[in-house]
Amino acid sequence: MAMLLVSAPAVADSIEDEIEQRIKPVGQVCVQGEDCGDVATSAVASAGSGEPRSGEDVYNTACTACHGTGAGGAPKIGDTAAWAERIAQGNDSLYEHAINGLNGMPAKGLCMDCSEEEIQVAVDFMVEKSQ
Ligand code: HEC
Repeated sequence: MAMLLVSAPAVADSIEDEIEQRIKPVGQVCVQGEDCGDVATSAVASAGSGEPRSGEDVYNTACTACHGTGAGGAPKIGDTAAWAERIAQGNDSLYEHAINGLNGMPAKGLCMDCSEEEIQVAVDFMVEKSQ
């Protein structure tokens, strides 16, 4: 009995986490003046913690819609051929394009509440998986 009581809060926590993951709001955002076509883009809901998100977190919320699928001509994560030339231009240029946009690549991948640093770590994450 005592064992059960001790472990119950941990179980409740993990169930809560799971529910939070499932009910996370996913917004459809298309910035005015940008040609977003019919690409489904999910905006990152503010994490609310004030802590910078990891590159993987930012990627999974803001970038995977295009970079996970190749939508709109986005170089797919893990596609080394598609990334080789981009990586060759250097990180500064990749960051600059991710932050300010490049053709079909919207500024900050539409993650308007992402800091530049969060965009950079998301770029690092994609590059790491694509070389
Ligand atoms: C609406 C779709 C879309 C979303 C969302 C998106 N991208 Fe992109 N991204 C693109 C497209 C399309 C390109 C190719 C642009 C080109 O070269 O013409 C691209 C290119 C890039 C490049 C390569 C730039 C270069 O210099 O070659 C980087 C880096 C990048 N995206 C990072 C990100 C990051 C980080 C996120 C998430 C925060 C993100 N993208 C979200 C569509 C998207």
